[in-house]
Amino acid sequence: MTTTALARERLLDDCPLPRLLCDDAAGSAAAWRSLLGTVEGVEIEVGCGRGVFLAAEALRRPRLGFLGIESSPKWARLAASALARQGIANAAVVQAEALSFLRTRVSEASVEALHVYFPDPWPRTRHEKRRIWRPDFVGEVLRVLAPGGKIITATDIRGYFIAIQRMLTAHACLQQRELPEAWPVTAYARKFLDRGRPVFSTLFVKHAGPPDQESHGA
Ligand SMILES: C[S@@+](CC[C@H](N)C(=O)[O-])C[C@H]1O[C@@H](n2cnc3c(N)ncnc32)[C@H](O)[C@@H]1O
Repeated sequence: MTTTALARERLLDDCPLPRLLCDDAAGSAAAWRSLLGTVEGVEIEVGCGRGVFLAAEALRRPRLGFLGIESSPKWARLAASALARQGIANAAVVQAEALSFLRTRVSEASVEALHVYFPDPWPRTRHEKRRIWRPDFVGEVLRVLAPGGKIITATDIRGYFIAIQRMLTAHACLQQRELPEAWPVTAYARKFLDRGRPVFSTLFVKHAGPPDQESHGA
């Protein structure tokens, strides 16, 4: 282990406010929720990277809890360290694969918003099955979202954006809405915007009515 990695390990281990759970420690929904304290609702970010969005939103909206799901141990630890360093008590990170975590650890209709910013694009056709936005992932997102819950996502890849919109508009329980102008800026968003690259983003809201009826051919 490098000196920097060791320093980060110590930072987390010595931290009076642990902000990181590994998937096996995440146990039940109660285990990760207890890390967020008493909050009025929970929002989840899938693929939180270094945790820029989590920290900013947790500070901006302290009455809500924010959970980042990050598959990379390195990024999960960095994000958790950043939260701990800033003394943020209403956000935490779980190191886990997002689809299986949602499936096994997140209760139905328990999430107010699900954010996915700049998911790995896997641009080659033969790799598209590795993308996070797939029909089975959408199904889980719809299950965990509360009525009125939001999906907010962004990517710099036009083709991926079109595919995501197609997947989401296929569900009659989802309505596409205008994104508020000040949508959250993540580390990747900052990088792309600074370079003048286009960023495609959207917001969908889950109807408060009956659950999903996929409207094939809509
Ligand atoms: C391109 S980065 C974007 C990070 C951050 N959202 C941002 O906008 O700055 C994508 C992140 O998603 C994570 N990731 C990829 N697949 C994942 C999965 N199935 N479950 C959880 N995290 C995943 C990667 O490890 C990486 O940190």
